[in-house]
Amino acid sequence: MATARRRIAFRTPLCDRLGIDIPIFSFAHSLEVTAAVSRAGGYGVYGATHEEPHEILESARALKEMCEGRPFGLDILLPTVTVDRDDKAAADAEIPEAHRRFVEHLREKYQVPPATREHLFMKHVRSQELFAAQADAVIRSGANLFAMAVGTPADVVARARAAGQLTLSLIGSPRHAARVKATGVDLLVAQGYDAGAHTGTVGTLSLVPQVVDIVGDLPVIAAGGIATGRQIAAALAMGAQAVWTGTIWLATQEHEVDKIITDHLIAAGSEDTVISRSWSGKTLRMLRTAWSDEWSAPGAPAPLKMPYQQVLVGEIMEAVKEHRIAPLLWSAAGQSVAYVRGISSVEETMRRLVDETEQSLSRLAALRQ
Ligand SMILES: Cc1cc2nc3c(=O)[nH]c(=O)nc-3n(C[C@H](O)[C@H](O)[C@H](O)COP(=O)(O)O)c2cc1C
Repeated sequence: MATARRRIAFRTPLCDRLGIDIPIFSFAHSLEVTAAVSRAGGYGVYGATHEEPHEILESARALKEMCEGRPFGLDILLPTVTVDRDDKAAADAEIPEAHRRFVEHLREKYQVPPATREHLFMKHVRSQELFAAQADAVIRSGANLFAMAVGTPADVVARARAAGQLTLSLIGSPRHAARVKATGVDLLVAQGYDAGAHTGTVGTLSLVPQVVDIVGDLPVIAAGGIATGRQIAAALAMGAQAVWTGTIWLATQEHEVDKIITDHLIAAGSEDTVISRSWSGKTLRMLRTAWSDEWSAPGAPAPLKMPYQQVLVGEIMEAVKEHRIAPLLWSAAGQSVAYVRGISSVEETMRRLVDETEQSLSRLAALRQ
């Protein structure tokens, strides 16, 4: 691809260290997007958190072929939960009756037939047992990079590094920076409040420079709300060595996304996303739909803590996707959704980001007296 081959104006030291041409990371639950970004000279990271260990190994095998020698990463969530065993029946028994009734009420109101496909959370429980098995799979997978979110266990970092992997952790608060650095992790993503999916309360513009100052020589990657070159230039100005992006990749030809969701993403502005605990039990930014509205309506039960909320809603969410129940279909999305105005290829998106960043940097350089 042309962008990857020409020398871009904002190569950072991290590019040489990682063997990439463009300091742009993508996060996507899509093998095709991940591989296309890596092939285009960025760093593709595949979201594997909804996969069983054997699926993680298969995904990594596929990516190794698809990336044509370029590096790629795998990302899983490693939160600390109080549930040790991956025992779905035991977790089911803990669900309060009022919560079950509420989900049944949604099922009737929106006429959701049962799911015939299986989602991870219909069989498994986000438990220490499941996380350990997923982490083992990522370490054995041969992925170049192990990205961990919502938790950074020091023993996992040490084992991944011993296996030759680069390790990366996503954090959302300056409070976590020093502690996560102490785990020995190689790279930090400072992910601000604007971001799609799990997010804290500090905005990207306030978070990134604080984390850069706290962690010193550890490279920081900026995330949350980034969808244009102007924002990439701003991230570099704040001391980040790269950017990490999620929402923009949902609107690429390579990403399989239900057209109901793509249309919603294209129509949505920043204020059409909300933070809700209705999927994972933790705060997660998503498109506002009847799903998030129902869970925040007066009289709705408070979502359960992780992992119980997914034990409760895993089946109905899969059914909503399978049967395309439009009002309840949602996607995680960041405030950056305001810049999603159509579908383009990964290559076009990368080229746009590179061109815009170079233009922004030239504009800034011209300001110097
Ligand atoms: C649809 C979607 C799913 C996501 N799932 C995960 C995930 O499983 N693990 C993770 O570390 N981050 C996840 N994220 C967050 C991204 O890694 C990234 O930090 C975020 O998208 C950056 O903000 P942006 O969406 O404004 O670009 C997800 C983001 C989106 C949009």
